[in-house]
Amino acid sequence: MEIIHISAECYPVAKVGGLADVVGALPKYQNKLGHIAKVVVPAYDTKFIRENAFEVVYDAWGNYGNHWFSFRVLKEKTNKLGFDLYLVHIPGLTDRPSVYGYQDDTERFIAFQIAALDWISQWEHRPDVLHFHDHHTGLGPFMTANCVKYQHLKETATVLTIHNAQYQGQFGWDKLYYIPAFDLWKSGLLEWEGDINPLASGIKCAWRVTTVSPSYLEEMRYNARGLESLFNYERGKCVGILNGIDTEVWNPATDPMLSKNFEIKTVEAGKLANKKLVCGVFGLDFNKPLFVFIGRLVDEKGADLLPDVFYDSLHYHRDKINILVLGSGDNDVEHRLNDIKNVHGANYNVYIGYNEQLSHQLYAGADFLLMPSRVEPCGLNQLYSLRYGTIPIVRRIGGLKDTITDVGDGGFGICFDQTSIYDITDGISRAVGLYGDKKKFKAIRKTIMKIDHSWDKAATEYIELYQILN
Ligand code: ADP
Ligand code: GLC
Repeated sequence: MEIIHISAECYPVAKVGGLADVVGALPKYQNKLGHIAKVVVPAYDTKFIRENAFEVVYDAWGNYGNHWFSFRVLKEKTNKLGFDLYLVHIPGLTDRPSVYGYQDDTERFIAFQIAALDWISQWEHRPDVLHFHDHHTGLGPFMTANCVKYQHLKETATVLTIHNAQYQGQFGWDKLYYIPAFDLWKSGLLEWEGDINPLASGIKCAWRVTTVSPSYLEEMRYNARGLESLFNYERGKCVGILNGIDTEVWNPATDPMLSKNFEIKTVEAGKLANKKLVCGVFGLDFNKPLFVFIGRLVDEKGADLLPDVFYDSLHYHRDKINILVLGSGDNDVEHRLNDIKNVHGANYNVYIGYNEQLSHQLYAGADFLLMPSRVEPCGLNQLYSLRYGTIPIVRRIGGLKDTITDVGDGGFGICFDQTSIYDITDGISRAVGLYGDKKKFKAIRKTIMKIDHSWDKAATEYIELYQILN
């Protein structure tokens, strides 16, 4: 089968969060299964794109409404990612350093979708599946089904994967004319609560919709930022497929970003070496348990509660724990997290920003990883932390609920029910207790490193889904 993934992110080309990790890995595993999976992403101004060689495979003009743009499709020359990577370069729109956050993001991603589909619809053959990811490419299923100029793709199966329904990409009807010509009576397929809503439209029009964990799919029926009734209505074509991880990138035995590689047999010495390095850099004492948080500092992740949780825990476990944060996001949360250093500098530090290498070091060097998410469609951090022998402390929600079981229930993590200061600090206290029980703690480390979350299983589940459609 030939599958074309169309996405805003793809690791290591351009990454903001887990969407990139998924799109950078799933196609590789689909190829390993004997299929042809390709990836199409915008050509941003990123290090990977600057430093790698591409050839032009398509050069044309496109338009959204009366806005004309030139674009090129570039193909990475060496297949170094394990799949054919195509970039859509639209001068002035895609070639910027960040993936998101511009006032004209609506225009940028509409132009990207139009350029990608203009190109694919010129192919002599039709691919078997167009697989769209999140709202940035959520208009794709509508366009291929309804826009006159994409007639050639009308019979091509479309799949939309929802990585996060908190973001839906809504815009006003004044921009309806951006979308290539279609019968206007079909406009309802674009609409949700008075706006054009790309995510809602994708859910309505895609042949199949997937969410990145089974529990998230169930939760969407009562908590989906206003899309609950749509989810209930379209439930029949939705399926939850739990994400995997790229075990070639995330392998503590070979990870080039670690100061010391390790495997199950050498986990104690290996983690200690990484912990010493991290603690040295951040002025922490490696003899104490190290708790880390890695991620976007937004409400969804429970980040707004972290400052209070950390004050409480650092006070209560005075000089007995270390906490280190890596993240960026909400300015107020960033400031409050920074301020904690003034009071608890000997046991606490924070790195505000995005740092891929540091994240790997932290998964390897930490004892516990904190994920008190309010919403977590899947979550990859907890899966990376398992593989690196770091015990996750999580709220039972979405993918966290599907992947982590509490030690008290014969499992290997620490789980709690609410994203509340009480539940999170209690989770930290339980972890301190577990750290004190060295025998149990070491045994759990070994157990979690053996858990298999590689993409093999999920890649097959996606293929089975595509097969139903073809
Ligand atoms: P989300 O996509 O909602 O942010 P995920 O758990 O699916 O959450 O994936 C987050 C990904 O982004 C992981 O690979 C994590 O290591 C990475 N990440 C998040 N914040 C940072 C950061 N500040 N520096 C480096 N990596 C980060
Ligand atoms: C989203 C979700 C996260 C998920 C990731 C990859 O960003 O917030 O939970 O792991 O996508 O699917």
